[in-house]
Amino acid sequence: MNKRDLLYEGKAKRVYVTDNEDIVWIEYKDSATAFNGEKKAEIAGKGKLNNEITSLLFKMLQENGIQSHFLKKISTTEQIVQRVEIIPLEVIVRNYAAGSFSKRFGVEEGKLFDRPIVEFCLKNDTLGDPTITEDQIDVLHIASLEEIQHLKRKALAVNRVLSDFFRELGIRLVDFKLEFGKDFSGEILLADEISPDTCRLWDLKTNEKLDKDVFRHDLGNLTTAYETILERLGGKQHA
Ligand code: C5P
Repeated sequence: MNKRDLLYEGKAKRVYVTDNEDIVWIEYKDSATAFNGEKKAEIAGKGKLNNEITSLLFKMLQENGIQSHFLKKISTTEQIVQRVEIIPLEVIVRNYAAGSFSKRFGVEEGKLFDRPIVEFCLKNDTLGDPTITEDQIDVLHIASLEEIQHLKRKALAVNRVLSDFFRELGIRLVDFKLEFGKDFSGEILLADEISPDTCRLWDLKTNEKLDKDVFRHDLGNLTTAYETILERLGGKQHA
């Protein structure tokens, strides 16, 4: 498989086409961004950590019956995935109050909800990824009501598997963001990444934050936090 032209460059990844039209090549960058790109830094080793962690989590989900675009990790910072057209929605699942939920509704961080909740945001940097309702998604033809229900069911299924998996490792899955795409046949597939950039992960006993909030709020060293996650997942940090 050969890497060809750059298809897309995001804040944390570059996506290249390959000589197989159904497969794209993803390169994880060392860039860290927060607050819609207002805060930026280059953090050596971050790309490796997120590639490693995402690969392990997608493999674990596949073993638990949750398919995704993930095919194979091909180097410390690269993976190949099935090509999909990303549905421009951020699908957010929350188990505990934190982040924008706590801020918007004045709810104490760490409050456990009666049940997990799903929220949607429109993926649009210019607009600052605004929250969007199911009706708004439907009338804007971003996804049908049926597809929205499918996204919610899938996101909650991912939450069940991920929450149990992380709990076993002494980690609380507070909330996370997923993205989905449509493959060449129109089937909806879990895509993008699942990493400490896209999840809130707290130590179960101490509530120490082991995710991008460390960078967002200057709480310590991002690399150390992400390495802790990778170590608990049983992964090795390659040189
Ligand atoms: O900021 P907020 O509380 O809405 O974030 C909820 C979850 O979604 C967090 O785990 C956060 O890291 C993730 N998220 C993300 N990308 C965004 C917005 C939120 O990964 N653009």
